[in-house]
Amino acid sequence: MRLISLLVSVLLAAGCAGTDENVFGKDLYDRSCAACHGVDGSGEIAGEIDKGSNTDLNLSDDQIAGVITVGPGNMPGFSRLTPAQVDSLVVYVRSLAD
Ligand code: HEC
Repeated sequence: MRLISLLVSVLLAAGCAGTDENVFGKDLYDRSCAACHGVDGSGEIAGEIDKGSNTDLNLSDDQIAGVITVGPGNMPGFSRLTPAQVDSLVVYVRSLAD
């Protein structure tokens, strides 16, 4: 019985620790970026990243990845994201800008 509850808590802890690293693309964007950029990228309080704005996303994939990890100006950097997460955000941000 004790062993089972120990196992359960270890699994739960592992599950929680893994959650952030296993969030990609839209889910990650909605969680980490939408507060400033808007769910559709139209820019609630930060720059628009969708098309049709006067700040069309004119950046290369590498530059977008750099923006996300370093965080220009008033944007916080997301250096804790894994490279795979950053890549998934680059793809998603591009889809918003299309
Ligand atoms: C606290 C608010 C905030 C959050 C959270 C935030 N950003 Fe930003 N972001 C900004 C601001 C402000 C700028 C403009 C920075 C500047 O150039 O001074 C910006 C700029 C950008 C740009 C460049 C836009 C362009 O047209 O040049 C991209 C791309 C971007 N953010 C993506 C993201 C992504 C992806 C996330 C989530 C991982 C994110 N941002 C989270 C505030 C935020």
